[in-house]
Amino acid sequence: MCGIVGAVAERNVVEILLEGLKRLEYRGYDSAGVALLQDDGTLNRIRRTGKVQELVDAVTSDNALGTTGIAHTRWATHGGVTEANAHPHFSAERVAVVHNGIIENYLDLRDQLRAKGYTFTSDTDTETIAHTVNEELKAGHPLLKAVQNSVKQFHGAYGTVIMDKQDPAKVVVARSGSPLVIGLGLGENFIASDQMALLPVTRRFIFLEEGDVAEITRREVNIFDQAGQPVEREIVESNIEHDAGDKAGYRHYMLKEIHEQPTVVRNALKGRLEEHGLAPDIFGEGAENVLANVKHVQIIACGTSYHAGMTARYWLEQYANVSCGVEIASEFRYRKSVVHENSLLVTISQSGETADTLAALRLAKELGYMSSLTICNVPGSSLVRESDLAFMTKAGAEIGVASTKAFTTQLTAFLMLTLAIGKHNGLSETDSKQIVQALHSLPAKLEETLTISEGIEDLAEEFADKNHSLFLGRGDQYPIAMEGALKLKEISYIHAEAYASGELKHGPLALIDEEMPVIVVAPNNELLEKLKSNVEEVRARGGIMYVFADKNARFSSDETMRVINVPHCEPAIAPIIYTLPLQLLSYYVALIKGTDVDQPRNLAKSVTVE
Ligand code: AGP
Repeated sequence: MCGIVGAVAERNVVEILLEGLKRLEYRGYDSAGVALLQDDGTLNRIRRTGKVQELVDAVTSDNALGTTGIAHTRWATHGGVTEANAHPHFSAERVAVVHNGIIENYLDLRDQLRAKGYTFTSDTDTETIAHTVNEELKAGHPLLKAVQNSVKQFHGAYGTVIMDKQDPAKVVVARSGSPLVIGLGLGENFIASDQMALLPVTRRFIFLEEGDVAEITRREVNIFDQAGQPVEREIVESNIEHDAGDKAGYRHYMLKEIHEQPTVVRNALKGRLEEHGLAPDIFGEGAENVLANVKHVQIIACGTSYHAGMTARYWLEQYANVSCGVEIASEFRYRKSVVHENSLLVTISQSGETADTLAALRLAKELGYMSSLTICNVPGSSLVRESDLAFMTKAGAEIGVASTKAFTTQLTAFLMLTLAIGKHNGLSETDSKQIVQALHSLPAKLEETLTISEGIEDLAEEFADKNHSLFLGRGDQYPIAMEGALKLKEISYIHAEAYASGELKHGPLALIDEEMPVIVVAPNNELLEKLKSNVEEVRARGGIMYVFADKNARFSSDETMRVINVPHCEPAIAPIIYTLPLQLLSYYVALIKGTDVDQPRNLAKSVTVE
């Protein structure tokens, strides 16, 4: 989604801003812009629709220079994808603003500002920020106070950075609902919506908290809380690899990230899984006491993370003997729900910034859950900071919009959570041993599974001209079928739906014909015979099937069915293993179709608006 970079330095900041925008491209956007305070005291703004490279070319041919500047990648919400709607937005050629989030009362503000003589040159909500701040400046307030007064008038979410040409070498930033991180340099300071943008220039960061407003100059950073009081915020040293943004020789980030899965799952297990069980306190200080008392788990997430939660429900109820509910965050946050006794709220998120999941966590706190745990990939993210307990998935930076390695590490984390909760709820010795052994075997099994990649590449040819597809699974493979369908539609734009295969005869069988490929995930588990009956139902109606199956499941290829053997694995880890072939299938289909694999149309990596 939208990205922000800002800098105040003695050197020219153009390169820093543009490199920052490039590093945020993975989040998804449709236009980009930059505003620079020039030596002659004027503001120079350049904006382009399309890729950041178009902006880079325009900035280069303009020879733009500046020591204070702000830049933005926009993912359109209010107003179409046009240059006029791209950020930064100006007020009276004096104030420049970039903004992530949505000012919900922007129509009222527009009317009020119009009545005061302001004209609007865009359809965006953001332009109201520029004019509101300008109005406060005109009242005689310095920039900091002008921003503090302005944000009191905004309803909604914002991470915003503001420059005033009459107060150069300074930016003022404000955060409510959309993350901002200050990067500390030597005699220069920076601001961004994501630390990834600033890794080439600093590793020292301050994560702003809700309601914070900060004044940033070359030498100073002064932060004020919601009440306007000066506050100190912790300085965090980032350990994210500087070159996490490299493709390491792969054609796409997504392919690189698929192939990283054995390594990142190994990292997720390291120091947490011992020979015969879990290491102590892996869910954080005080977690043991919470987990010992859990009687119900409520999981909240969106998209792929929701599918991880759906899978976890099978594990938590089957092995750990606790009841478990799973809900999409955008539904949970707007309905009245009942809180079970001793209920643990678990949020899952790759980014830790998903607006709906964050709002659900905040709501859950009011509802009186026993405790909250987040399973998250980004240290210092909002979900991590606002949850009682946090478990980091350690997948490393995930750049491809389509989530891959984040998902399999989330599932790995959930298997460990199953062990940790099950220990207090009658998890059998046999199941415990089986899960522990399966987890030990997981990285190697993932490696082995990636070796079937070539066969899947061939298979992809058969999908490229299809418009629809159906994914089938049963039990804990049903959410994996859902995830497979999500991946295919996300990056190849082929319509894909997933069904628990027992549901087929209740409606979807009507869709079956030779134009509707049916993808089946078939590990050798206790539901295999039931699944085989569902496969026969499809065959009898002339369906063409692609079955990912354990070799012991005894499926054989014929004219209506193509079988792809997946390495045999322990049942507990089968959902993780069967995810890989589905990721590869989507990738290769997208490759043939020539879509933008890493930045599929209309999508954003981190969904920071609701
Ligand atoms: C996955 O491929 C998607 N890009 C999307 O569904 C994603 O999982 C969802 O937006 C949730 O994001 P989060 O994990 O960062 O909260």
